[in-house]
Amino acid sequence: MKRIGILTAGGDTPALNATIVGAVHRANQLRVEVVGIIKGFSGVLNPEVPHVHLNPLFHSIPELDSTRGGTILGASRDYVDGNDSELIARVADRLKRLHVDGLLCVGGDGTLNGMQPLGNHLPVVLAPKTIDNDLGLNYLDEPSEWVREMSDKPRGYAYKKWPGRDFSLDEMINYATPGFATAVYVSAQSVQRIRTTAESHRRVAIIEVMGRDCGMIALGTSYGQPDIILVPESPVEPDPLVERVLAILDKQKHAVLCVSEGIKDTDGQILGAVSASKDPAGNIQYTGAAEAVKRLLVERIGDAFFTRQRRNESADAAIFVRKIGHTQRGGRPILFDRFTATQLGGKAVDMLLQGFHNCLATLQYRDGGFTFDSIDANKLRDRWGGIHARPLSPTFYDPKRFQPSPKGVEYLRSIFSHALGVDDVESTRSLFDAGNLTHPYDSVNVDINKRIYRLQDS
Ligand code: F6P
Repeated sequence: MKRIGILTAGGDTPALNATIVGAVHRANQLRVEVVGIIKGFSGVLNPEVPHVHLNPLFHSIPELDSTRGGTILGASRDYVDGNDSELIARVADRLKRLHVDGLLCVGGDGTLNGMQPLGNHLPVVLAPKTIDNDLGLNYLDEPSEWVREMSDKPRGYAYKKWPGRDFSLDEMINYATPGFATAVYVSAQSVQRIRTTAESHRRVAIIEVMGRDCGMIALGTSYGQPDIILVPESPVEPDPLVERVLAILDKQKHAVLCVSEGIKDTDGQILGAVSASKDPAGNIQYTGAAEAVKRLLVERIGDAFFTRQRRNESADAAIFVRKIGHTQRGGRPILFDRFTATQLGGKAVDMLLQGFHNCLATLQYRDGGFTFDSIDANKLRDRWGGIHARPLSPTFYDPKRFQPSPKGVEYLRSIFSHALGVDDVESTRSLFDAGNLTHPYDSVNVDINKRIYRLQDS
């Protein structure tokens, strides 16, 4: 292979540039040209395929920096429709005219689906990313636990997962995805910050974290020591929850809850999806989980409790909601993410050159350390070809204590004990660089724009 293409698809993560850096670095060593396609699959849907040469003469362009959050290539949630064979043929023709011999997609499950149809025309591999940490398996045979059941949903069926089995951490496929550690770093810090104000004002703080249907970010947020963690994989039962909140209030006069955006009730209905809409990839956009928990607590605990026992505040005022939102997805990636992302980027390039096809690079946990491996994308699919978000294993969470289980603690420690580098801590000092006050933000998009070629003029 002389030239490969790379694109970053789906929602961004802080570690995407690190993956590109790892890929380009390896390509430089192997004397392979790398062309970066702008804005994920939307770049190949554009007849001009806007693109950037990332390593002219096998030297990385200066904009590539593994400590820079986001992606210099831009990302989008546009995907190639696998059923539209004419479109796929047009996209394949564009990639041919771009002279790329293989395509490296950096993304999650949507990207895996998006790249598969292109695989009939050229070799494709995936370097994983997602803050949700849901691309992978708890163990190899997990996809066979998904079954379809008849339902009145428009497609006529709904998926259900049989209870999983216990497993050892070494069995996990794709132990942690780049972006997850940084998201947890942000969410845990946010809990610590909101904690002291809830503590001072004797309030109940309900903090919502991202993660869609997977409770991994919420679980990791336990580093910020929330009193209660709610995850989508464990249905919210109102009585035990209210009882626990009251016990905590009784003891410490305030409470902090960390709520995953995808939490469900005992009927399996998403609590917050009051006004659910869909993004272009068909993903439900989660909204309102923390508000739903607030409504429940306001209703069950009532004004009298707060006016009588605490302070002259209604339940509505004493219980407040904060969404950490996109701060979890932005900014400088921490060391763990930078390390795993660069290695996975390099591994994906090796895979392309070694003839792997429709595979993904994976991070594996072996004998207390990390290694990099690969897996056929099909191994992630159920028998109908669907890819499911890896659920947070019930063995990682204790629903009685609303906290990580001993195994969940072991999992988190293996990732986070050495996740922060000295430079991560030192970098916080740059916030107050005197120049920040006098220099406007210098966007990398401006420099990248100057490097963009389009198909007819390259
Ligand atoms: O999948 C990553 C993620 O950040 C989810 O945790 C979240 O639900 C979603 O993307 C938000 O997407 P958007 O940025 O498009 O609103």
